[in-house]
Amino acid sequence: MSILPIVTYNDPVLRKRAEPVESDSQELQQLIDDMFETMYNGQGVGLAAPQIGRSIRLFVIDADAFTEDDEQAEDVGPLVFINPDVKPANQDTVLLDEGCLSIPGIRESVSRPEVIQVSYLDRNFKEQKRAFTGWVSRVIQHEFDHIDGILFIDYLGSFRKRMLKSRLNAIHAGEAEAAYPVASKEKTDSATA
Ligand code: NI
Repeated sequence: MSILPIVTYNDPVLRKRAEPVESDSQELQQLIDDMFETMYNGQGVGLAAPQIGRSIRLFVIDADAFTEDDEQAEDVGPLVFINPDVKPANQDTVLLDEGCLSIPGIRESVSRPEVIQVSYLDRNFKEQKRAFTGWVSRVIQHEFDHIDGILFIDYLGSFRKRMLKSRLNAIHAGEAEAAYPVASKEKTDSATA
């Protein structure tokens, strides 16, 4: 397994609608293992394929670290989602803090549906249909957005966005301070220039 560099705001791959995964392969299974290792190394609870530069509809989560102090929380362990479909189960929404390995150092409150219905293929390409709530639901919705080219900061009001502008520009300019490897186009360019 290897730790892959994480692409940061505002790499164009994070803004693309990712393509469906067509078939299983040894390469795909290796990629899934690498994504878990990359996610754990970054102390993340979810990682989507576009974040490591692959525009395919795949993400991994492990929200257990998030939920271990919460006795009500569902203990779901590591999960792989291939070609998922996510729908709100009802009208209820909840406000929770989010961060993103591609936007290091920024956390903001975002309102999203509380309970979701998810259809997906697991890593064995077995069809699954499952409801999720709480933190796990939140992490899945955040990662699902990634494969549609959406970032959590897109949900912020214009005032919050203006407040964050200089920090986002700094990340975009390759000045992201992260405790894990990041891939920055600008940094690569200046290093080779
Ligand atoms: Ni993210």
